Amino acid sequence: MDTATTIAALRERLAPWRRAGERIALVPTMGNLHAGHLQLVEAGRERADRVVVSVFVNPTQFGEDEDYASYPRTLEEDVRKLRGRSADLLFSPQPAEVYPEDAKTVVEVREMNKMLCGQFRPVHFNGVTTVVCKLLNMVQPDVALFGEKDFQQLVVIRRMVADINIPVEIVGVPTVREADGLAMSSRNDYLSASERRIAPSLYQSLCAAKKVIEAGSLDFRQIEQAQLAVLRQAGFSPDYFSIRRCSDLLPAADQDGGLVILAAARLGKARLIDNVQLTAG
Ligand code: PAJ
Repeated sequence: MDTATTIAALRERLAPWRRAGERIALVPTMGNLHAGHLQLVEAGRERADRVVVSVFVNPTQFGEDEDYASYPRTLEEDVRKLRGRSADLLFSPQPAEVYPEDAKTVVEVREMNKMLCGQFRPVHFNGVTTVVCKLLNMVQPDVALFGEKDFQQLVVIRRMVADINIPVEIVGVPTVREADGLAMSSRNDYLSASERRIAPSLYQSLCAAKKVIEAGSLDFRQIEQAQLAVLRQAGFSPDYFSIRRCSDLLPAADQDGGLVILAAARLGKARLIDNVQLTAG
């Protein structure tokens, strides 16, 4: 696997592949890679001749009181894991390479960046869309892969790509989970042993709500309130538990179209997010 830390070196590596007409996949990450990230690499492999993985802990998507400084940075180990998965190129730039001091441009997906997680992390989605737009411009991939684990992120990125006509196919990859159902996440490392035992109840809560809806209940607001109480009882401080439309993440009022149930909850030092989808009813 080749590596590049500058945009110039990245473009040099990509040029012969593009000349040869090879299809290029991009998997953007912040590193500290786990099986969830590696699933995206696999999905890239299936859809392209070359897989580029970026590892960049993006400062602009962290709020001032968030974990940018302490976010786990494990580049050497990440390189080893990517070699095992036959990624072709690792792009791991420093912040100054991505954000020149005189930069003035922010990519904003309005409204969607303020709902759900955006309500609790006000700068987060502008940081994500700005860096993802930049990475897509740097690599110019044919296809880019994102996890359904971060469902709002995936929907916001799809909206951005459609709105500003970025010529790339966005592929969503199903969430990879631990044996007990907990969605894999770099932030799970923040959990103590006792919190780790509680953590899977977030997914269980989402599955319980899904079951109630599938049994025919349309009282979505009551289901949300009931599951918020369950999460509090289990020891979480939930930010939200919400039944939404898959397409635009607006609150769902009936079972028409695809639905997604999303939740975010704090547990000790970790903020966990997860979601489950329901097919059209
Ligand atoms: P990061 O949290 O490192 O995640 C990188 C990609 O891996 C995202 O698309 C995320 O949805 C996916 N992912 C994480 N856990 C997963 C799991 N358990 N199963 C499947 N996919 C999973 O998300 C980001 O980084 C950043 O916001 C980024 C898009 C790189 C922009 O900085």
